[in-house]
Amino acid sequence: MNKIIAITGASSGIGLATALKLEQEGWIVYAGTRHVERDREQFANHQHLHFLEMEVTRPESLEQAFSVIEQSHGHLDVLFCNAGYGFLRSLGQATMEEVQDIFNTNVYGVMHSIRAALPLLQKAENGHIIATSSVGGLVGQPLNEIYCASKFAVEGLLESMATYYKPLFNIEITLLEPGAIATNFVKTVLDHVEKTGGVLDDEYKPIIDAYLHSFSTRNTAPQTSESVAEVVFNLIHSETKPLRIRTSEAAEAFVSHKVSTDPTGLDGVLKIRKMQLNM
Ligand SMILES: NC(=O)c1ccc[n+]([C@@H]2O[C@H](COP(=O)([O-])OP(=O)(O)OC[C@H]3O[C@@H](n4cnc5c(N)ncnc54)[C@H](OP(=O)(O)O)[C@@H]3O)[C@@H](O)[C@H]2O)c1
Repeated sequence: MNKIIAITGASSGIGLATALKLEQEGWIVYAGTRHVERDREQFANHQHLHFLEMEVTRPESLEQAFSVIEQSHGHLDVLFCNAGYGFLRSLGQATMEEVQDIFNTNVYGVMHSIRAALPLLQKAENGHIIATSSVGGLVGQPLNEIYCASKFAVEGLLESMATYYKPLFNIEITLLEPGAIATNFVKTVLDHVEKTGGVLDDEYKPIIDAYLHSFSTRNTAPQTSESVAEVVFNLIHSETKPLRIRTSEAAEAFVSHKVSTDPTGLDGVLKIRKMQLNM
């Protein structure tokens, strides 16, 4: 029987590449988008790729989408919480509205998605929740404090759930931790900077100049979203599901000082499960 996955943020980048890869491999894919008509039209010849509106800041949008999946299949095998975006302003520069917006999508969006999909995942033989975190979910970086805080929050959420979702619901949990991926991500960040006054001539300017200079002189090519989709495909089909997985060697090297004693995060999960649940 075909397996079923729902992916948020599947209108472009990592989400779209994963949707296409999994459909090609025989999965039934529910692809969350904010451009339903456009995406349905563009991928009309993909029989098992179904675009549904999933605006992750609106729980009712997700509930509606998952009720469609429930009516057709009664369960969901994998939920991939991938919708998100970056942000490059310091806490001192950002407005609280900008901070709340990013948390609404990157953090509450993941919570809304899991809450809406959980009853369906519980009905799967082996459920799996994957959320796209980032190397920025493990390592804080200059001027990225708002984005990193949002991804650290996702890490805390899923790491905690991983301590008991497997024994209680038979649901695995994984945090996908990419480094730089060639998607719309950077353009979205820079467009927002442009729209809100560009590089501000304020006390943070030396830091942003240095950051942008180092960004433009790094000669490591970003990973493709198709290659991330391969990682997700292999993850979903692997026997043992890690709590954490980096998507490239560059990402692994970047976070190595944080994860060297427990790269997959599984030792930590088992330790806490034993200590606090005696399981
Ligand atoms: N690219 C990188 O370097 C990188 C590195 C580490 C982690 N990540 C993470 O990877 C994930 C995917 O990003 P990407 O690189 O593939 O960039 P992308 O091409 O910009 O894709 C982002 C996706 O999220 C969707 N999205 C944003 N806000 C949403 C909302 N409120 N509701 C529903 N969908 C929403 C976008 O939809 P629209 O098309 O409607 O905007 C798009 O489908 C994000 O969580 C990001 O933080 C990316």
